[in-house]
Amino acid sequence: MEVSELDKYGICDGISEIILTSGMKNPNAAPIGLIRKDNRVFIRLYRGSTTYENVKQDEVFAANVTCDPLLFIKSTFSNLEDEDFKYHPLNSKSIPLLKNSATSVIFICDEIKHTKQAMTAEIIPMGAVANDYLPRAINRGLTAVIEAAVHATRYKLTGNNEFLDLIDRCLETTYKCGGQREKDAAEILLNEIDEIKKHVDGGKDTE
Ligand SMILES: Cc1cc2nc3c(=O)[nH]c(=O)nc-3n(C[C@H](O)[C@H](O)[C@H](O)COP(=O)(O)O)c2cc1C
Repeated sequence: MEVSELDKYGICDGISEIILTSGMKNPNAAPIGLIRKDNRVFIRLYRGSTTYENVKQDEVFAANVTCDPLLFIKSTFSNLEDEDFKYHPLNSKSIPLLKNSATSVIFICDEIKHTKQAMTAEIIPMGAVANDYLPRAINRGLTAVIEAAVHATRYKLTGNNEFLDLIDRCLETTYKCGGQREKDAAEILLNEIDEIKKHVDGGKDTE
């Protein structure tokens, strides 16, 4: 499969936020940014995640394209349910995909480089699946709740309270512009932040 064909599956030039599914025996899902530039595609996976361990071991995964805020937020902080996954064969392996994504593209890792904090890999598309898909206008409530989730992962990593202000500002937009699914995703995110706060501040709530 050519990199240029990825346009048809929603993975365009720039950074595409997808849900990466990996792990043959225990499927795992997490939001990851795919970097497409000059007809090549890359990922950077930070150490410490299940995704990092799975991709390091199997060197194969699926990138699932979806605009569902609940899938994004749930997979950021915990795993999805078994029934959210289905499997696709590739060279006698069985690759987990998300059942309810618009499209899924299977990638293998080509050139892997390890640094202290992360691994980066050039990734090669091997095949793709397109499901029923309805067009969706840009919704600022959706983009804002995804942005808040990125700040939340950084808050978890650093404990820096500045991220809490950024999250609040993002979620203001979500409550103003989002639909019910975006607002439900925001609620889950706020509950997760409360949990993270307890660990960040050594068991004390930072408020
Ligand atoms: C929109 C979005 C994009 C993300 N992109 C990346 C990424 O490119 N690389 C990475 O290592 N983590 C990224 N993360 C953070 C991981 O999703 C997060 O650490 C997650 O908890 C890992 O889950 P896992 O342990 O189940 O793999 C991103 C998070 C969000 C919300």
